[in-house]
Amino acid sequence: MNEIATMTRRRGRPGDRGAGGVNSLLYAFKRSLNERHKFAKIFRERLTEPLHLNVMAFFVLLFGKFHHKVAFDLVVRQQLAFSILHAARQAAARGLRKISVVEFGVASGTGLLNMCAIATEVMRTTSVMIDIYGFDAATGMPPPIDHRDHPEHWQHGDFPMDVDRLREALPDFAHLIIGDVKETIPGFLATLSRDAPLAFVSLDLDYYSSTKSALELFKGNAELYASTVVVYLDDIVEESTNPWCGELLAVREFNDETPLRKISPFPALRTKRIFKNALWIDQIFLLHVLDHDDRKARIRRSATVLPNEYLAKRWETRQSVEPRPTPIPADEIPGSPPRDRSALSLMRAVRQLKVIFAKRRESVEAGAGIRRHIGPGCQ
Ligand SMILES: C[S@@+](CC[C@H](N)C(=O)[O-])C[C@H]1O[C@@H](n2cnc3c(N)ncnc32)[C@H](O)[C@@H]1O
Repeated sequence: MNEIATMTRRRGRPGDRGAGGVNSLLYAFKRSLNERHKFAKIFRERLTEPLHLNVMAFFVLLFGKFHHKVAFDLVVRQQLAFSILHAARQAAARGLRKISVVEFGVASGTGLLNMCAIATEVMRTTSVMIDIYGFDAATGMPPPIDHRDHPEHWQHGDFPMDVDRLREALPDFAHLIIGDVKETIPGFLATLSRDAPLAFVSLDLDYYSSTKSALELFKGNAELYASTVVVYLDDIVEESTNPWCGELLAVREFNDETPLRKISPFPALRTKRIFKNALWIDQIFLLHVLDHDDRKARIRRSATVLPNEYLAKRWETRQSVEPRPTPIPADEIPGSPPRDRSALSLMRAVRQLKVIFAKRRESVEAGAGIRRHIGPGCQ
């Protein structure tokens, strides 16, 4: 069954605590105290970063704007905050007013509510509107097909949803699409519009088979997508992860099947981040829509000319050191009436003396400049 439900806003839920707010961070921190692996992760990632950056982060937390908090990894579900903000900024740069964002695998909806809180801040920051779609079967994980679905981690029936409660908690720009993704994607693809192209997808379906079905979403008309769609892969950092199972296998097969759509890691993201130890950095990918209009060759502007400051400097030096060419006297111009020879050679000698004096003056001035620079007493 394919069900697109429009939700209404409610107050006082975790997702409504304002992404990047001190309260939402404290709430997440308190929750992580109950889950030792999460606490250990925060400890490991954050306290291994330089002290001065953590001190700066403290002030950013108290006084910073939302995008500063994203830069300093101070928003709950940092991977979603970075991705949605990046996608919206890219859209704004292209003059788009709206984008679509998808979460595959909603379960209890904590991630979807975090996404909504983040999207609210991003809309405020960028003025780009965001539609959010959460896909889930609602009945929990389907049966695994084989070892490729990592049945050592997940089993049939894991993560059932309380659809009604989640529905009540969601804001009106968020929609639930309930059913097996294999069945719900074609209908959704038909409703996707170029006015709100797909710009970010979070993949958290756990299985290879489900992820493979979900990636069908990337096979529509090029105009339905941003030219690069940010993709978050949730299940690729477990020790058992490998390119022959799970999400990595689904992505590899997708890349093999689609010559003009390719998913690859976000280039040099670690170098571009302030805090470099965060695990999520390895989970951010991009779908490159190679047949997108934005990637077609066309004259978009006047030709770019690269400046060369070395050449410019050389030219300036030559202009100041070399004496200006002395104009040729009228009597030396071919065809002009002859003058007295001795007068001519005298004039030539005077000209040469002028050049010698000009060069001498230049070097004396240059010397005085150096003395001025290094000061008296250092001569
Ligand atoms: C790990 S949970 C998602 C957790 C969620 N993203 C969060 O952060 O709270 C995985 C979800 O994927 C859903 N799922 C797996 N395979 C699916 C399929 N083929 N179609 C629809 N939903 C599926 C399951 O129902 C489950 O709720």
